[in-house]
Amino acid sequence: MIRAAELIERKRDGEELAGEELEALLLGYAAGDVPDYQMAAFCMAVVFRGLSTAETFALTDAMVQSGTTLDLRGALGRKAVDKHSTGGVGDKTSIAVAPLVAACGVPFAKMSGRGLAHTGGTLDKLESIPGFRVDLTREQFLGQVRELGVAIIGQTADLVPADKKLYALRDVTGTVDSVQLIAASIMSKKIAAGAEAIVLDVKVGSGAFMKTLDDARALAETMVALGRRAGREVVCLLTDMEQPLGRAVGNALEVREAITTLRGEGPPDFTELVLAASARLLALSDLGVDEAEGRARAEQAIADGSALEVYERWIRAQGGEPSDDALPQAPVVREVTARRDGYVQSLGAIRIGRAVLHLGAGRLATGDTIDHAVGVVCVRKPGDAVSVGEPLAEIQARDDEAAAGAAEEVRAAYQIGDRAPRPRPTVLDVVR
Ligand code: URA
Repeated sequence: MIRAAELIERKRDGEELAGEELEALLLGYAAGDVPDYQMAAFCMAVVFRGLSTAETFALTDAMVQSGTTLDLRGALGRKAVDKHSTGGVGDKTSIAVAPLVAACGVPFAKMSGRGLAHTGGTLDKLESIPGFRVDLTREQFLGQVRELGVAIIGQTADLVPADKKLYALRDVTGTVDSVQLIAASIMSKKIAAGAEAIVLDVKVGSGAFMKTLDDARALAETMVALGRRAGREVVCLLTDMEQPLGRAVGNALEVREAITTLRGEGPPDFTELVLAASARLLALSDLGVDEAEGRARAEQAIADGSALEVYERWIRAQGGEPSDDALPQAPVVREVTARRDGYVQSLGAIRIGRAVLHLGAGRLATGDTIDHAVGVVCVRKPGDAVSVGEPLAEIQARDDEAAAGAAEEVRAAYQIGDRAPRPRPTVLDVVR
């Protein structure tokens, strides 16, 4: 018998709960014995009171235990790597990193999620590729990583089912914003999915869930500790999300930008993150190279076309048509132009994310269908000079009305000033 009300009260009053108590509560919730209203109250108490390290460990263990786990080493006979981002605007990094790392000879096996609020999800982006399937069985997933070295699929239903249920509850009860709940949610899924080495990308800034570098560092440290305890090597990049990553925001537009980047013609900030994440994944792999050598190999795989070749084979293996010409195209294209001369001072990621969401590229309610073709291309980014009448951004919309609505939001995202701002690095810090 789980005394849920008593556990809620004790957490509300700032007490530390025993591991067995947290396990009983979480597994009771997953089994349907603890109702949503009690779990929501408990999560709210955690948002205010936090969890100790021991409590966070116990909660994560219980989440992993709620489902089945994958043994990638056993299935592949070698070390596999994985990557995860906490969610940002224009973040298509995994779509470029996965084939790039595989082209360098390292197995990349990822189970991914869908978009959340104004942030896009890798699965939604991949589904903009005609024919691409994200619902492979566990056996098909493992077989593809074994043969091709790369697969990205949706989480199978039996992988951390407690998080699936808890995340949906947190999403609608104002209880997403807790470092410990986010860390347990992400790391339980990464641990269950079986990769031995993981690069995490914690986004920081107005377009991210973590608004400050201090919060992002706390989340990163917690996730690294959770990974280490489970015997995984984890490196966390803290990366800028004050502005969108790259230029393209919106599902098919982002896939196109990932392809362009694999051709060596991507935007500088996105290319930098793809290389930084790949270099660290290669350094953590069983290749026995350091980060500098990992970066050199990643650069070479772009330059010699092997990364693009692996991308095409990967997309075909999952049923998709890899040519960028096959990606859906929005019927209406509208430019947002500058009303004054100057330099772009800042470009608000959250505003661009919302504009793209309202164009139909994301979900406003669970179960909404998304429009893969629409989005925004930020032609100019912070630091770029612009003259009156020149384009700041290009909106790709389903109709004129949607384009006009987005134009206002996109314009408001741009701040133009007289002098070029100081450049901001893409990778702000690394936690390991
Ligand atoms: N991503 C997750 O998977 N879980 C969270 O709690 C937040 C972001």
